[in-house]
Amino acid sequence: MPPLRQLNGAVIGYGFISGQGHIPAYLDRVKSRGGDVRIAAVADVCEARREAARKALPEARIYSDYVSLLEAEAQRLDFVDISTPPCDHAQVAHAAFDRSLHVLCEKPLTTTLEDARAMLEHAARAKRVLFPCHNYKHAPVVKTIREIIASGRIGTVRSLTLNTYRNTHAKGVGEWKRDWRREMKYSGGGIAMDHGSHTFYLTFDWLGSYPTAVTAKMSNLEPGKYDTEDNFTAVLTFPTGVAHAHLTWTAGVRKVIYTVQGTRGAITVDDDDLQLAVMKKTSGPDVAQGAVEWEVEKRRIESDWMDASHVGWFNSMFDQFKTAIAEGDYVGKEARESYLCIQLITTAYESARTGCRELPLKGGC
Ligand SMILES: NC(=O)c1ccc[n+]([C@@H]2O[C@H](COP(=O)([O-])OP(=O)(O)OC[C@H]3O[C@@H](n4cnc5c(N)ncnc54)[C@H](O)[C@@H]3O)[C@@H](O)[C@H]2O)c1
Repeated sequence: MPPLRQLNGAVIGYGFISGQGHIPAYLDRVKSRGGDVRIAAVADVCEARREAARKALPEARIYSDYVSLLEAEAQRLDFVDISTPPCDHAQVAHAAFDRSLHVLCEKPLTTTLEDARAMLEHAARAKRVLFPCHNYKHAPVVKTIREIIASGRIGTVRSLTLNTYRNTHAKGVGEWKRDWRREMKYSGGGIAMDHGSHTFYLTFDWLGSYPTAVTAKMSNLEPGKYDTEDNFTAVLTFPTGVAHAHLTWTAGVRKVIYTVQGTRGAITVDDDDLQLAVMKKTSGPDVAQGAVEWEVEKRRIESDWMDASHVGWFNSMFDQFKTAIAEGDYVGKEARESYLCIQLITTAYESARTGCRELPLKGGC
């Protein structure tokens, strides 16, 4: 396949993730990938953020809204990078597809399932790529989990636990609305809407199938102050196993702890620390009688979990977006999984609101 020419992009929303994550990663591509991407324009509704964008990208043209940016720039652009709060992802994406632009969109894809479906359908009609920022798949330690599962060393994966601990809700830039994640009208939900996609696309990958049912419980420990949940727990039923997900913004620590249980071993991840246990002697199921011995291997895989911008994970993900453009993979696996994440989150909310009822998941759109 011939190499792509330089891609010209516009960033909509110059806040925390674009200022600390996306733009530094795009600029790094000048050194690491021969400058295959150029950010030609930025739109942000906040003057202080536009000023910050002018400093970071002196050659880019800066706009106060995405509509004027698209009117003036669309002819010269290949893609739009949507980094606004979730309430606006869908309308920006539709405007970009209307102008025949590809879309890289931050998670969560949308705040409603109807919006998610319409976005995927529009990408297919416009023959333009829709690609979600599922960047946790690109964390070095998460890539190692994938490799171990694929190697077969722990056998068939049967169950997962994914615990995400945060000592506060994630914050936006102070010049705009720092606490928008705690306001339903901007976020569409609390920690499940904000972070659930990361948890759920990892479960799809590790269990090798898609969930068929979910039961969930959520709470808000500051109901007088905020209208979104800060604690969320769900159990997902898969054709191949089960996953337990727990997400909290009221923890005493910031970390992830993931466990992957297979038929012949297990992986435990505590941020950068990975432990792999593989069954060696299996003459019977009972370890107490000495029938099972485990070979245990410990590794430290620096993954920069404390850097919430995850700038180091971006370019591996952007390479996939580029490949999708080159191959005309308009609504590929990642886009379909971003839809399934929204289906899962919104169904889990329905479960939590109705006494933790187990609810079916209808699958693909
Ligand atoms: N993938 C990840 O690891 C990760 C990490 C952080 C944030 N995010 C996602 O990135 C998105 C932005 O989050 P953030 O933390 O950067 O928020 P933020 O509040 O720091 O930044 C949002 C920016 O968008 C601007 N804005 C708001 N509405 C706009 C509109 N309609 N048009 C143009 N500009 C607009 C604001 O002025 C602000 O500068 C969210 O979807 C969030 O979930 C993803």
